[in-house]
Formats: sequence, structure tokens, C-alpha cells
Amino acid sequence: MRVVRSVEHLREALEYMRRGGHTPIGFVPTMGFLHEGHASLLRRAGEMSNTVVMSIFVNPLQFGPGEDFESYPRDERRDLELAEREGVDIVFIPTVEEMYPQPIRSKVSVASLTTQLCGASRPGHFDGVTTVVSKLFNMVQPDYAFFGLKDAQQVAVLRRMVSDLNMNVEIVPCPIVREGDGLALSSRNVYLSEEERTQALVLSRSLRTAREALEEGKARTAADIRELLVSVISSSPLAVIEYAEILTFPDLEVLETDDLLTNVDGEIIMALAVKFGRTRLIDNNVFTPK
Ligand code: PAJ
Repeated sequence: MRVVRSVEHLREALEYMRRGGHTPIGFVPTMGFLHEGHASLLRRAGEMSNTVVMSIFVNPLQFGPGEDFESYPRDERRDLELAEREGVDIVFIPTVEEMYPQPIRSKVSVASLTTQLCGASRPGHFDGVTTVVSKLFNMVQPDYAFFGLKDAQQVAVLRRMVSDLNMNVEIVPCPIVREGDGLALSSRNVYLSEEERTQALVLSRSLRTAREALEEGKARTAADIRELLVSVISSSPLAVIEYAEILTFPDLEVLETDDLLTNVDGEIIMALAVKFGRTRLIDNNVFTPK
């Protein structure tokens, strides 16, 4: 495994792999503090590619003022051990100065898909994501790039960016990895106190309850589902709901129909953002009704 910290060394390492015929190239961008969710993307990348590249970069551009950029958890040594175990070929760990050597004046921005859900409460966040991912795509020039559905809106936005701008990469969405008790893995779970960690189970529980109600015909409309999600989450006294929404996926449009069971073609997303103390957690479920 090669660890490179500059764009120049990254390009050299990639050139070497390409010249040796070790293609296709699979890419997994991360912000580090890796867990089983990231590992699952690396394994999928390993199945589909002959060279696996992973980046670790906590991207200041996608954090708003007052968010946790400074305190975002970091552990490079442990991350490199995990990468080695998962068979990563090249790890790219740039500094902020390497990624942004001059004040950035260009940005990539996807309209409308970025104004709802997390985009509403984190203005500018998705511009930061699409800009850094575009830069990383230009540096790595991967054939495949792997993203978790844990961040389903990020997947929707990046797919649209790649399609709108004819980027020569295939986005591969990967399923959400959860703890045994249902909590979706996240680098930010380390912020939770024991009590918050227990109460945070309402996220996955509310999604399961809503799915069952829909399948059993006990809930039929978007309003029924939203009510159910809110009532389950509110059973946890520490939970402060930021949003609990049900939209079409991947277009993230409001569901016009009042009967989800019979009138919806394509996929639906139930998406949640809930705060426990200072920790903001997200979770979702993407499914085809019927
Ligand atoms: P980060 O939060 O480190 O996540 C890196 C990738 O791991 C993302 O594609 C994310 O969806 C995926 N992931 C995180 N938790 C997961 C889980 N429980 N199951 C499955 N996949 C999971 O997302 C980012 O970094 C950044 O926005 C980035 C794309 C790197 C751009 O800076």
C-alpha cells in the first residue's frame, strides 16, 4: 500500500498502476476516522476494480461556521491499518494547503437537489462536497467511485453532477452498514454519551416502524408516514428533530400523490436528521413501495 500526500505523488502512483494494466481504478473518498461503513465501500471497490484508491481529507469547504470542522475526529494510524487490511493500493492524504493552495474561486454546484433535507439546514454544504469531489475526481480519474447510501442525498447530488457534467466515472451506491442494534455507523457516533447512544436507536426504529406500517397498509400517505416517524422519534426525550421527510428518490421531490401504495412509480426515501445534544445524526431508508 502506498501512502501519498501530494497531488504530484498521487499522479505518479496512478500512472504506475495504469502502465502496469492494473485497471479499472476504483475510488473511495472519505474524511477518515474509518469504520465498517467505509470498509464496506473499500470491499465493494476491491470486487469491481484492480486498483483501489482511498482519500482521507476533512474538507473545510463543506463545513459551515459553528460546525465541527476543527473537532472532527481523526486517527490516521488506525485508518491506515484498516486500509491495509482491506487491500487498498493507494491512500491519498492531502493537507488543506495541498488541496487549496490558493483561495478557491471556482465551485461546482448542483441546483435544487441541494436545497432540501440536509441542504436546508447546512447552506453551502453540498457545494463544498461537489467541489471537493470534482477536484478529487480530476486528480484520481477513477473508473468507479463508491459512496454510501447513509448519505443518500450526497449520492443523489453526485450522480446528477456526474451526469450533467459528463464526468467519466460511474457512481456506485452502497448499502448502509448498521450496528447490531440498528444504529447506522457514523464517525460522529463517538460524540454520543451513553444515554444519547441508547436513545439514538429511535432513528432506525422509526424507519422500520414506518416501513412496516406501509407494507401492512396501516399507513398510506406521506402525511401518515411523517406522523409515524415523528411520533416514534418523539418517544425519546433527548431527540430534537431537524427533519423527518418522505420524498421521491433520487429526484427528492415532494410526493404529490396521497396514496403511496398504489400511485408511486420508482423509489421513495424516508430521511431523518435528529440532534442528540450537540450531535446531529442522519438516517434514511430508500425503497420501492408495493
Ligand atoms: P465520510 O463521512 O467520511 O464518508 C465517506 C463515505 O462513507 C461516504 O460515501 C459515506 O456515505 C460512507 N459511509 C459513512 N457511513 C456509512 C455507513 N454506515 N454505511 C455505508 N456507508 C457509509 O461523505 C463524506 O465523508 C464526504 O462528504 C466526502 C464524500 C468524502 C467528501 O468530502
